[in-house]
Amino acid sequence: MKILIVGSGGREHAIAFAAAKSPKVEKMYCAPGNAGIAALAECVPIGAMEFEKLAAFAEEKSIDLTIVGMDDPLVGGLVDVFEAKGLRVFGPRKNAAILEGSKAFSKELMKKYGIPTAAYTTVHSAAEAREVLAGSKFPVVLKADGLALGKGVLICQTPEEAEAGVVEIMEDKKFGAAGNAMVIEEFMTGREVSVLSFCDGKTIRPMTSAQDHKRAGDGDTGLNTGGMGTFSPSPFYTEEVDEFCKKNIYQKTVDAMTAEGRPFVGIIFFGLMLTADGPKVLEYNCRFGDPEAQVVLPRMENDMIEVMEACVDGKLSDIDLKFTNDACVCVVLASEGYPVSYKKGFPIKGLSAFEGRKDAFVFHAGTKMGENGEILTNGGRVLGVSALGRTLVEARANAYKAAELISFDNKYFRHDIGKAIDEA
Ligand code: AMP
Ligand code: GLY
Repeated sequence: MKILIVGSGGREHAIAFAAAKSPKVEKMYCAPGNAGIAALAECVPIGAMEFEKLAAFAEEKSIDLTIVGMDDPLVGGLVDVFEAKGLRVFGPRKNAAILEGSKAFSKELMKKYGIPTAAYTTVHSAAEAREVLAGSKFPVVLKADGLALGKGVLICQTPEEAEAGVVEIMEDKKFGAAGNAMVIEEFMTGREVSVLSFCDGKTIRPMTSAQDHKRAGDGDTGLNTGGMGTFSPSPFYTEEVDEFCKKNIYQKTVDAMTAEGRPFVGIIFFGLMLTADGPKVLEYNCRFGDPEAQVVLPRMENDMIEVMEACVDGKLSDIDLKFTNDACVCVVLASEGYPVSYKKGFPIKGLSAFEGRKDAFVFHAGTKMGENGEILTNGGRVLGVSALGRTLVEARANAYKAAELISFDNKYFRHDIGKAIDEA
């Protein structure tokens, strides 16, 4: 098979790494890819939002399966463009990707179908927001309706903070049209767990659990980021939690989407909070998490391409997912100053230490090839270093040891990824 992966981050590198293990794959392309993905796939300079160019490329190269890694092209309808041309593609259509693309939609869906989530109100103007906030308990959570690079969620402790949030999201339109509507939500407390799942429109197969660390600094301090590190499995995702979610959340979500005439084919990412009242959905995403994919895919025993094809063909019920019994921890190596401002273009040393290893991997996020063939930093999140271990504690020690092998100017990382597992 010839496959094309759409995207350029650590998640897409992890997808390419899993695809490369499939005996079905003869040739792999990635658009636009990065310097790490280039070791596994031929990178082509087409952007993820250039739908017509991507489809023309897939036609020209007779691509057998395209895998869309990123949220923007999915929410924008890349899958529909491919399907209209008879091209095989893994990912939800636009009318299903709305599960991530509109928080107002996903909240309404959960309410209508009795899927546990925080109580909320959707508003369409700043005046309406102020009216709702006047009667709200604090803290309160404000969420821009649309995609906002993971930054459209504000937790407001006081009415003054909420007022500033309303101005930012709905009046100043900091997140553009994403702020035309806003969800005002009850604040919940509890541990967060991510569960990714494969779906074929009818059947859902949850993968193993993972947990992200979103804040930039140790001890969950500092600004929200795309994710500074992950571990899998989560010891807090017990059998009891799993049973509850299987009964009340996973299949119900898939059935709800089908009932709405929006069958979901692809990955549903369930962002869950384990509250005192039981697990509740914080958010849905319509793609693999980044950096969740970097700890979940290395533990997957199935041929990922076979599973994706089963999704596209509506035959997921034939597949049982299998994950290894070991654990995986990913530490993100970022550029000092991320997520605000940072320098790039520094040479990265130590990457060759990972060649051929089966217990530790480097997934490139923001890197590029320099003029002399050296690999340079090219983003806020530069690399994700993932390591396996028999236990989470061992995997964490291995990941930090592996992270030491890499050096570049302004290297920054959190020192406490997976530390919470000591409490389990
Ligand atoms: P989201 O993009 O919806 O996952 O929100 C980003 C982060 O905000 C989540 O990972 C949570 O840490 C936090 N968050 C979102 N909604 C709530 C809520 N209702 N209560 C408490 N924290 C929340
Ligand atoms: N790691 C969170 C996300 O991918 O949205």
